[in-house]
Amino acid sequence: MEAMEMIKGRRSIRKYKTDKVEHSVLEEVVAAAAFAPTWKNTQTARYIAVESADVKGQIAEQCVGQHNADIINSAPMLIVVTGIQKRAGYERDGSFTTSKEDRWQNFDSGVCTQTLCLAAYEKGLGTVIMGIFGEDKVKEIVTVPEGQEVMALVAIGYPDEEPQAPKRKTVEDLLSYC
Ligand SMILES: Cc1cc2nc3c(=O)[nH]c(=O)nc-3n(C[C@H](O)[C@H](O)[C@H](O)COP(=O)(O)O)c2cc1C
Repeated sequence: MEAMEMIKGRRSIRKYKTDKVEHSVLEEVVAAAAFAPTWKNTQTARYIAVESADVKGQIAEQCVGQHNADIINSAPMLIVVTGIQKRAGYERDGSFTTSKEDRWQNFDSGVCTQTLCLAAYEKGLGTVIMGIFGEDKVKEIVTVPEGQEVMALVAIGYPDEEPQAPKRKTVEDLLSYC
């Protein structure tokens, strides 16, 4: 798939077919996401693939509102994106490198998550990134390793809808030169 087609064609998918996401396909997607650029190549993003209908159901019921619950219940798999803390944006002595302090962790997680979503799209999978969730509740249900935080939830599966692209800003809105 052409990169431009991939970037423009990927949509957030909120309705999925019941077909499972094969481990071999998911592993190819994660292997591609590993090529995302990260702070000093620290590669702090991790992915917990929730396949258990019971665990997924608990997340839908206890961690999110109705809109995201419907998405999670529709998807055959939910990826909990976590990030290893205190690396991105930090010096070896534990001090911050820049005035953005620890926010580079969020930046890196976003870059990695979008790379994962694009790789999934190339494989015929749909995804949607979800930012509205209760992190503490997710951590009660899914075992997140010590020293990691939950960065995002990503529903993944074979799309059962073809949504139109929401309106985008123009180049004139986005770009300036100086
Ligand atoms: C950080 C982030 C958080 C998001 N959170 C949610 C969410 O909680 N629920 C949801 O349905 N969509 C969520 N989205 C998806 C956006 O609504 C979607 O990307 C946007 O409307 C553009 O649509 P498109 O992805 O189809 O191009 C989120 C996207 C991002 C990047």
